[in-house]
Amino acid sequence: MPENKSSISVKNLSKTYDHTFKAVDDISFEVPAGSIFAFLGPNGAGKTTTIKMLTTLVHPTSGSITIDGMDPTRDPHGVRQSFGIVFQDPSLDDELTAYENMFFHAGLYGVPRGETAAKIKDLLEFVELWDRKDNLVKTFSGGMKRRLEIARGLLHTPAVLFLDEPTTGLDPQTRNYIWTYIKKLNEERGLTVFFTTHYMEEAERSAKHVAIIDHGKIIASDTPANIIKSASAANLEDAFIKLTGRKIREEEAGSVDHLRTMARAWGRR
Ligand SMILES: Nc1ncnc2c1ncn2[C@@H]1O[C@H](COP(=O)(O)OP(=O)(O)O)[C@@H](O)[C@H]1O
Ligand SMILES: [Mg+2]
Repeated sequence: MPENKSSISVKNLSKTYDHTFKAVDDISFEVPAGSIFAFLGPNGAGKTTTIKMLTTLVHPTSGSITIDGMDPTRDPHGVRQSFGIVFQDPSLDDELTAYENMFFHAGLYGVPRGETAAKIKDLLEFVELWDRKDNLVKTFSGGMKRRLEIARGLLHTPAVLFLDEPTTGLDPQTRNYIWTYIKKLNEERGLTVFFTTHYMEEAERSAKHVAIIDHGKIIASDTPANIIKSASAANLEDAFIKLTGRKIREEEAGSVDHLRTMARAWGRR
């Protein structure tokens, strides 16, 4: 893949739910091949909806997408071969071993039988889970599960890896650990990485390009250093406050998702 080619190209992309609510509102951005791109924003900003449109799970209301030269709305099958995804919510089978989770996924993605065993070994070694390959996933910590999901997402050798909030809910040490793998994948295997987060410092530390999304709109898109500079801010967190007039986590505490979680916990829907 040529270095200067855009791996992901998004133009005027929108998603309207229930005919009225604009979850994603006319966003455009480019992710250069071989780079790490952060999609940053508070809860409910539209990050997951965007990832779902990029990965063929949600049909856009309008706009266009190109992933590795293909259009997910026209060629969903082709696009699915070119990316791997780690979802926001856990998606492993807890009752299977790490190896079995990998093995069944390889079958699903049509990894040639003759290559499957070597690929699984390579990737489980990469995320340092080879010695745990025969353990049931339900015995794994949150960080181990995330590492296994990353390994599983790479079985079919995609050019792009999507990670939706890969470190949310993990302790700081485990978060750092996950980041060393992601950076290594980018540096050593040339993988294009698109990740979402509401941890500003992770985007600042790990991403070459950042787009900040708020209420479905991109409010800044550049290198972390340029965003910080043009907002006359001390860091990205400070830049977000200056651009929106509020803290990223205030929004989170009052978000609809949070209220829904509480309502569910009280047994009401
Ligand atoms: N299937 C859906 N139907 C209606 N509204 C939705 C649906 N999915 C997401 N939303 C709403 O769209 C907004 C963006 O959600 P989401 O993309 O999940 O945000 P984020 O991932 O940034 O937290 C939120 O207000 C959310 O409640
Ligand atoms: Mg989300």
